[in-house]
Amino acid sequence: MNKKIQKAINDQIQAEFESAHAYLAMSLLCNDKSLPGCAHWLKSQWQEETGHALKLVEHVHSRGGSVTLKNITVEQPKWTNVEGLFKTVLRHEQAITISINKLYELALAEKDYPLQILLQWFINEQVEEEGSVQAILDRIALAGEAGASLLFLDRQLGERA
Ligand SMILES: [Fe+2]
Ligand SMILES: [Fe+2]
Repeated sequence: MNKKIQKAINDQIQAEFESAHAYLAMSLLCNDKSLPGCAHWLKSQWQEETGHALKLVEHVHSRGGSVTLKNITVEQPKWTNVEGLFKTVLRHEQAITISINKLYELALAEKDYPLQILLQWFINEQVEEEGSVQAILDRIALAGEAGASLLFLDRQLGERA
């Protein structure tokens, strides 16, 4: 495979693993705050992001390319409240959407059709992820996150399959 493409996919793999790591760190933080539902939701997200990275690894390997991992450099999440945490998640996903779109633009420019098809899945996934995080933020905006509404939100997030 084209070296430019290989490097760009390697960068995206790195970004997916960094997302995974960031969400697991947030999940652990929620555990410490006695929010098992939020912790569960973020741990599920850790698994999803790991899945995204591995999907890209598989793509590179199927095409005879090579993947190299770098160190994970992720800031420790800071606790303000649940809204603050999910706002960070949303900003992170928005940045990932931009990088996926850039990778798609490169796949178009380089006429890499297999990558274009793979990335269509990722483009849809980003719409879904941003939507689900926005829905959580909308709920917090409606009901706040004190007392019963926080317990209710935490229980709902804990039901994520
Ligand atoms: Fe992802
Ligand atoms: Fe994501």
